[in-house]
Amino acid sequence: MVTVLKLGGSVITEKEHPEILATERVDQIADRLQSSMTERLILILGGGSFGHPAADRHGLSVELGTHDARAIADVHGAMLRLVDHVIERFVEREIPAVAFHPMSMGVRDGDTLTLSHDGVQAAFEEGFIPTLHGDGIVTVDDGVTILSGDTLVADLAHQFDADRVGLCSRVPGVLDEEGKVIDRIEHFSSVSSVVGESDATDVTGGMAGKVETLLDLGIPASVFDLDSLGDFLEGAQPGTTIDGSRVN
Ligand code: IPE
Repeated sequence: MVTVLKLGGSVITEKEHPEILATERVDQIADRLQSSMTERLILILGGGSFGHPAADRHGLSVELGTHDARAIADVHGAMLRLVDHVIERFVEREIPAVAFHPMSMGVRDGDTLTLSHDGVQAAFEEGFIPTLHGDGIVTVDDGVTILSGDTLVADLAHQFDADRVGLCSRVPGVLDEEGKVIDRIEHFSSVSSVVGESDATDVTGGMAGKVETLLDLGIPASVFDLDSLGDFLEGAQPGTTIDGSRVN
């Protein structure tokens, strides 16, 4: 059983405070990981108040790149600091997380992302928990653009033939107009009025981008909050299940 789990930036960082780790929540996650039965796990970390403000400062997004090496160092550096903090707390609790930095793993050309997974694969087979993160990515004819954690989720789930995909976010799922969790999403059109149209100017696309990416995945993905992480790790499908497999 292979599980790809993204820890959203809003969960692991204090969204309102630049470059502050949400230490309590990260420790809670560590507790859940420790007590879970999940044998084979790949983690992806979102950018939260580390990656997003840095990308914003330089006008970078999934669509808008830069050739300014200083800007690239700023964004990548912020993500390295975040990953360092998280890994430090995880290994303290004997969670065998090992960091992989996507900017050094590949390239994007148009819609095609090509990452070298050899190290991740080997680490995974050695029993580690490969831990990747939203990052900059060299992009043909566009310098460096932003690679979102959600895109990495799709890439890794596909590459590792994942059985389960989860996104742990600050909200308990995708919410409808009344703020209630939508149980299941199979078509983007059924939720476009509540998640908004996909917005290319958002650094990584917001909830609309997340739903669209997960609908294309081919296997069901769950969006849930920290309270449900334990349930997810034990095999449940809490929150919203996003499953485009019947229509794709
Ligand atoms: C953002 O990754 C990465 C950078 C801005 C460098 P995500 O888009 O996956 O992050 P969150 O989960 O929304 O914070």
